[in-house]
Amino acid sequence: MTVREKLYEGKAKILYATDDPDVLLTYFKDDATAFNAQKRGSIRGKGAINCAITSHLFQKLEAVGIPTHFIRQVGGQEMQVRAVKIVPLEVVVRNIAAGSLCRETGLPVGKVLPQPLVEFYYKNDALGDPLLTRDRLFLLELATPEQVDWLRSQALQINNILSAFFQDCGITLVDFKLEFGLDHQGQLILADEISPDTCRLWDQAEDDPTRRVMDKDRFRHDLGDVESAYQQVLQRVLSSR
Ligand code: TMP
Ligand code: ASP
Repeated sequence: MTVREKLYEGKAKILYATDDPDVLLTYFKDDATAFNAQKRGSIRGKGAINCAITSHLFQKLEAVGIPTHFIRQVGGQEMQVRAVKIVPLEVVVRNIAAGSLCRETGLPVGKVLPQPLVEFYYKNDALGDPLLTRDRLFLLELATPEQVDWLRSQALQINNILSAFFQDCGITLVDFKLEFGLDHQGQLILADEISPDTCRLWDQAEDDPTRRVMDKDRFRHDLGDVESAYQQVLQRVLSSR
């Protein structure tokens, strides 16, 4: 497969065309940003780690019937994916209160939610990815009611699968963000990545609120040992069933 022109460069990944119009190449960068790119840096080895974790998790999901854009991992930090049109929604699932949920509602960090919370954010850097209401989502014609119902049920199903998987790794899946795209048939499929950049992952062997963090919060809040936390997630993910 021949790699062609760069189609899009985001904060953490670059998307290339290939000689097959149905296949794109995602390159995972070591660059890290937070707070809508107000904080910038680099995490050594992140591209390769996130590519490997995403590839592993997408294969796990595919194996239990969740359609994804994943085709195969190629090279150290590249993944072949099916071409999709990304829906400008960030679908966030939360099991435990953290991050913006605590900041915006006053819920204490670590509070176990009575049931998983599914939220839709508008994927729009210029606006700072605002939280959407259902009515605003329809007003902006970001998805149909049927698509929203499907996204919600798909996100909850993915949460069940990933929560159980991370549990086996000794990791609590606190919350995570998903993106979906429309394929050539107009079908919604899971796209983008699932990695320590897009999940909150807490080490069950650690009680200390700083030491337990195994995800991008280490970078966001300058907690140190970012690379080794990402490495540790990769090791546990690859050695789990
Ligand atoms: P939040 O608590 O900051 O809203 O984040 C919720 C989850 O979404 C958390 O696992 C991190 C992830 N996330 C992204 O993947 N990209 C983003 O731009 C943001 C703000 C959060
Ligand atoms: N990825 C987002 C950004 O840079 C936010 C985050 O993950 O905190 O800006």
